[in-house]
Amino acid sequence: MTEKKEWDLEPDFDTLMKGEKSHEWISEPRFKKLFNEVEHGLQGVMGKGRYEWVDRRVFDQVFDSSTLLAIHKLMQKGDIETIEYPIARGKEAHVFYATSNQGPVAVKIFHTTNAVFKSLAKYIDGDPRFGGLSRRHRELVNIWVRKEYRNLKRMRKSGLQAPMPIAHFKNVLIMEFIGEEKASPRLRDVSLDDPYDVFIQLLDIIAINWQSCNLVHADFSEYNILLKNNDIWIIDVGQAVTNQHPNAEEFLVRDITRIVEWINRQGFDVKVADCLVRVLDDPVPILSPLPGGD
Ligand SMILES: Nc1ncnc2c1ncn2[C@@H]1O[C@H](COP(=O)(O)OP(=O)(O)O)[C@@H](O)[C@H]1O
Ligand SMILES: [Mg+2]
Repeated sequence: MTEKKEWDLEPDFDTLMKGEKSHEWISEPRFKKLFNEVEHGLQGVMGKGRYEWVDRRVFDQVFDSSTLLAIHKLMQKGDIETIEYPIARGKEAHVFYATSNQGPVAVKIFHTTNAVFKSLAKYIDGDPRFGGLSRRHRELVNIWVRKEYRNLKRMRKSGLQAPMPIAHFKNVLIMEFIGEEKASPRLRDVSLDDPYDVFIQLLDIIAINWQSCNLVHADFSEYNILLKNNDIWIIDVGQAVTNQHPNAEEFLVRDITRIVEWINRQGFDVKVADCLVRVLDDPVPILSPLPGGD
């Protein structure tokens, strides 16, 4: 409730969204102060001069006016100091390397104006029956962010290595940066001396997640696993659901199948059924909770 109240003091979303395509709102006097404050922290992803974005597409896709307001708020708290460069760009979100008053962080910014949404919008804007849709769409994204934040916490409580969630606001999620100078590679990007050992650890993670944490990742694959030195980190947990979900078992089998396919591509002959028995029935170690978990 308090979050909503604070937010309502900010300029109205829909007024902002109207001027958004041309970025005209940026030069409107009432937003000038806000933009000047954010601009400094965004120099890494923007050009030097005003409006000379390094990558105009990134700016258009990610930094719409409502997102800039959210970033402004997070900057005021010190959760973000500067946003330096994109680590990854996906259809639903961009992930940036950023700095905060606690040091380096990863900032995942979900698109509120993705291509699909934009193409739909032209059929919806101006049709009074769908007046509330853009607001609902944004609300859905906000719920998604909250879910990823909570799932990260929950996994860490069971001792699973997932990035420590730091803050979230609207469509922006801030979490521990996994990497040294550069972001750690995905499992997909490395070649391993002993892939089978990693496979066994991955199966343990799925089992602990299911049995102790009562969650299923639901998008577990070599794309959503990072390797930092020899440590395995699980990311991208927004879609994870509890094992009470009506499709939980189906998701579990799919997660297991993906990593079985991964290990079998390296010349092994692992059976999904054996792994499923292990995940469901074999006792799992009780790990100590990690900081930031609850
Ligand atoms: N906490 C993090 N630290 C370092 N890199 C990250 C972090 N979170 C995500 N990434 C990088 O960003 C990419 C996309 O993030 P992810 O959460 O998987 O989003 P998407 O939904 O777009 O797949 C990952 O593949 C990884 O390379
Ligand atoms: Mg991913």
